[in-house]
Amino acid sequence: MDLKKTYPIAQHFSLERKELSDEGWFTCLGINGFDSNESQWTQWLHPEEATYYQSLSAQNRKQSFLLGRVCAKNAYLNANPQESPPNVHIQTGIFKDPILQNQSTTQWQVGITHSKSIAAALVFPATHPMALDIEEWDTKRATTMRTQCHTEELHCLEKIGLGSAASGAVGWTAKEAISKALRTGMTCPFKLFGLKSIEAHPDGGITGLFINFCQYQFRSWIIEDKVLSIVLPKRTRLIFSKNGPKLTNTASKAHGLPSVHDASHSHSPVSGS
Ligand SMILES: CC(C)(COP(=O)(O)OP(=O)(O)OC[C@H]1O[C@@H](n2cnc3c(N)ncnc32)[C@H](O)[C@@H]1OP(=O)(O)O)[C@@H](O)C(=O)NCCC(=O)NCCS
Repeated sequence: MDLKKTYPIAQHFSLERKELSDEGWFTCLGINGFDSNESQWTQWLHPEEATYYQSLSAQNRKQSFLLGRVCAKNAYLNANPQESPPNVHIQTGIFKDPILQNQSTTQWQVGITHSKSIAAALVFPATHPMALDIEEWDTKRATTMRTQCHTEELHCLEKIGLGSAASGAVGWTAKEAISKALRTGMTCPFKLFGLKSIEAHPDGGITGLFINFCQYQFRSWIIEDKVLSIVLPKRTRLIFSKNGPKLTNTASKAHGLPSVHDASHSHSPVSGS
């Protein structure tokens, strides 16, 4: 399978604020579409990435590393179509954060996430720090994710129509995403990433702020069995072109809010984006 041919779709978004407008791209790739003989990796990986990739022994880590890089490069090539994937180097920083080395006049940065069934990436200008996280919101995982949310946060999420599992996943992914934007990862106590002002967003999905990191907001979307959360500067409006974000090339759509039931009961949304 040719990953290049199968997954070329990067979703464009605008970043609008009073003093500055920017843009970026979001790309995702289902793990089911991954070719187990991995014949494509030389087409995608920079020599230094390839050395790391070949050193990995765990198959699922090889898969997540490759798919994350493919997503990020796919998104980056929209900003720089003259580049070829193996020339684009996404280094691993000392805190394990992805560092995009690029020659472009715009300083592009990258964020990467993988879940059980999907990898995704954001490419955004350095003027607008951003990060993302995706998780499946099955009942079992949600139980763990809920343990990292304050009762008040869960209550707010449930009040705007989310079921118990989706609430836990939104709370968790928003916190993991801010931890990536700050580059600390989840080495900080989760309490530091507390959420406030949670509400349905007029453009679709859910939005909220952070108690301690007042420069940032999060946006979250329930998309079938997954939650996508993106963290970005508070006063910037994130506008996906073409009714995004979408997590597959075909049917999947981002919904405003999920059913009030748990993931175990129903996935049907109560409103579209
Ligand atoms: C960052 C963290 C939350 C990601 O968790 P995860 O379960 O791997 O979640 P995801 O799949 O959504 O994200 C993985 C991606 O996050 C990115 N990432 C890793 N560490 C990061 C950090 N400190 N800041 C920003 N992004 C980071 C990477 O791109 C990684 O993908 P890659 O390794 O294929 O490049 C988690 O790894 C963490 O808390 N790390 C703590 C920091 C740490 O231990 N660093 C290592 C020692 S310094």
